[in-house]
Amino acid sequence: MKIAPSILSADFANLERDVKLVEELGADYIHIDIMDGQFVPNITMGPNVVAALRPVTKLPLDVHLMVKLPERFIEEFASSGADILTIHQESTPHLHGALQKIKAANVKAGVVINPGTSVETIRHVLHLVDQILIMTVNPGFGGQKFLPECLDKVRELVELREQKGLNFDIEVDGGVDDRTIRLCKEAGANVFVAGSYIYGAKNPKERMDLLREVVSN
Ligand code: DX5
Ligand code: ZN
Repeated sequence: MKIAPSILSADFANLERDVKLVEELGADYIHIDIMDGQFVPNITMGPNVVAALRPVTKLPLDVHLMVKLPERFIEEFASSGADILTIHQESTPHLHGALQKIKAANVKAGVVINPGTSVETIRHVLHLVDQILIMTVNPGFGGQKFLPECLDKVRELVELREQKGLNFDIEVDGGVDDRTIRLCKEAGANVFVAGSYIYGAKNPKERMDLLREVVSN
């Protein structure tokens, strides 16, 4: 079970401090949300920020690309130090090729689907990925309400993984807190992204401890 704090809700003027904070609190990954103002209606950061954070932490950098035609930027993110590159099914007509490109860059490959997208649309690339990310909010912003209907897709993936004899991780992202994380875990997810729940709290340690307690029980 892995906890991946999203720095989208960190203090952008103090990213180094905020990354080190969650590392000390036992985070497993640093989740970095890349938004281009086109695929989603928000702009965040680019490969330069990934490169700047690389020497700051030993944790794997879990980079979530909310970018139109992400295949244009794969080499750049890989050489900036990303460990996992996750691209949206909806963001490219060349999903299979884009995943091959990620693999060729020697980085772990992930696919993510929006709340309105079915598992069927990624069935034929499951053998290429290390991780599937199920969005539990519509992407673009932190602090939104968890959409429980997305958990059916987590259950579906658990079955497909078994049927096909594969072993990708199942990550969830959006509206994760100490209550919803339990639902995600019960559905079969094993990587949990949380942004505002951790960074928006007065006491992030208390929040990290609570999440850890729920997923390890
Ligand atoms: C949303 C991002 C999330 C975001 C989650 O588009 O992909 O990673 O940071 O934020 P919370 O945990 O606040 O819903
Ligand atoms: Zn994300």
